[in-house]
Amino acid sequence: MIQVRQLTKTYQVRERHGLFATSKRAVHALNGIDLDIERGALFGLLGPNGAGKTTLIKCLTTLLLPTSGTATIAGHDVVQAPAQVRNAIGCMLMGERGLYWKLTGRENLAYFAALYFVPRHERNQRIARLIDRLRMQDFIDRPVESYSSGQKMKLAFAKALVHDAPILVLDEPTNTLDVPSARELRAIVAELHAEGRTIVYTTHVMTEAEQLCQRLAIVDRGTVIAQGTPDELRRQVVATEVIQVRGQIPPRATLSVQSLPSVREVAIATLDDGHELLVRTSEPRQVLPKLIETLYAYGASIEDVVPSRTTLEDVFMALTGRTLAEDTRTR
Ligand SMILES: Nc1ncnc2c1ncn2[C@@H]1O[C@H](COP(=O)(O)OP(=O)(O)OP(=O)(O)O)[C@@H](O)[C@H]1O
Ligand SMILES: [Mg+2]
Repeated sequence: MIQVRQLTKTYQVRERHGLFATSKRAVHALNGIDLDIERGALFGLLGPNGAGKTTLIKCLTTLLLPTSGTATIAGHDVVQAPAQVRNAIGCMLMGERGLYWKLTGRENLAYFAALYFVPRHERNQRIARLIDRLRMQDFIDRPVESYSSGQKMKLAFAKALVHDAPILVLDEPTNTLDVPSARELRAIVAELHAEGRTIVYTTHVMTEAEQLCQRLAIVDRGTVIAQGTPDELRRQVVATEVIQVRGQIPPRATLSVQSLPSVREVAIATLDDGHELLVRTSEPRQVLPKLIETLYAYGASIEDVVPSRTTLEDVFMALTGRTLAEDTRTR
């Protein structure tokens, strides 16, 4: 659905030296991005500030011309066929400036629906459904200039949905939202994905990427440094993880755990009030249910299970030696 080959983008920035002298400097925001995003995927783009996420999204949505390389969206080249690309994509950019402040939210949606050639007889109904779905009834008929940043964010999200495009591109959509609103937005994104849309979701919050996306690309300094499912990415940096189980665990239960597939190593310790079992495995997700089942089947009682988690933050650190919070923007 989305194919990116060796995409680069170089910004020319003018720098001032003293009063009159200026010089030009090149900022290489994208340095040869390759990406393949399948139809129906919920694909995450994860990377620190300045990684090039927004630049990539602007190239994909025809807001910026790439310097070199190609990108095709639903078969249309972003440079050769920008109009077709725009029809195929609903887009929400961070710090959305494309809303009309003097108009109400509803008027904004009506305007963008017309701009995207949504048939007149469908417009009102579709807008009403969006208002309902995103719960915007309370503020939708007020001018946008009176909105809170969260309300603007919701309206920008609705704008991305108004022409019912098969692809949605969202650039840090939860950025200024409070925790419940962010959760609500993620739930709606998951619903839209379940309905069959292809979604590109940008974030620098790794837990968000991990929860929501089935596949993701980690972007750093304008290149994709790793790509895959969260589990594949974890396995790139750690071969095994340890699951810790506390409870009353008889020896025969420990023995049968040892023979489970992909269990590498088992250790048991006796505590004051029971046992602690440590299970090293290459497939923590697959092992966990079988582990619990086996323990119960052999008469164990379980008080606590703590799967050790290699987070995407750990993956990023292992690959770059930096944390995701570090700002990599060129100044
Ligand atoms: N219009 C511009 N002119 C010059 N340089 C720019 C411009 N826009 C972005 N850059 C630079 O390009 C690089 C990538 O920026 P970009 O906004 O794409 O990163 P990002 O991953 O979206 O970061 P963030 O998480 O902060 O949104 C940065 O070094 C940035 O300073
Ligand atoms: Mg950005």
